[in-house]
Amino acid sequence: MAELVLHPEVQAKLRREIDAVIGRDHVPTDADVVRMPYLQAVIKETFRNHPPGPLLSWARLSTDDVHLSNGMLVPAGTTAMVNMWAIAHDAKVWARPDCFEPERFVDADGGADVDVRGGDLRLAPFGAGRRVCPGKNLGLATVGLWVARLAHGFEWAPVDGAAVDLGEVLKLSLEMKTPLTAAATPRENVVGVL
Ligand code: HEM
Repeated sequence: MAELVLHPEVQAKLRREIDAVIGRDHVPTDADVVRMPYLQAVIKETFRNHPPGPLLSWARLSTDDVHLSNGMLVPAGTTAMVNMWAIAHDAKVWARPDCFEPERFVDADGGADVDVRGGDLRLAPFGAGRRVCPGKNLGLATVGLWVARLAHGFEWAPVDGAAVDLGEVLKLSLEMKTPLTAAATPRENVVGVL
């Protein structure tokens, strides 16, 4: 939601997609959300910019010496972590990594077709492999549904004196250092979530 407040053009484009798919007379449902490719791109771009599990949840202990294909050795007994945040912000992997550009994930715009459920290590916000997040489908469905409902029912704008701060702090997961303050204005002639 913070990125949508900071990027009104993305917010407007998302709302146009939601209106085009469902109109204005009901709140988005799970069945609607899967027909919204731009919404999926907005969510992927948010996971890329702000991976909720950036580092620690990927900790692994090597039980044996592991020889990597690049010649490096990971000795037995090493605690190793994958720094997903660094991969997601690596300019060798992502063009303009610090920009919020959902279009990079839109097939029709030549964007990357990335499976964020562990099938593509360029962006694996749920981890990958045997210990991949078992709640990934529920997580994705929930985030998609709520972002769709919040963007469909309300216009989101900054509030004077409360600048949106994208600063992050790592607790159990990555959180905003300063919680978002924004004005949510119910849209006219739209059946809202409240
Ligand atoms: C947007 C939502 C979510 C994100 C971004 C997320 C992310 C993650 C990540 C990064 C891991 C670590 C994977 C690894 O170590 O390789 C993980 C593990 C896990 N997640 Fe999620 N998760 C989400 C939602 C959920 C939900 C909804 C549930 C349960 C209903 C869930 C249950 C778990 C469990 C039980 C593990 C531990 C799996 C294991 O160690 O074998 N997660 N999640």
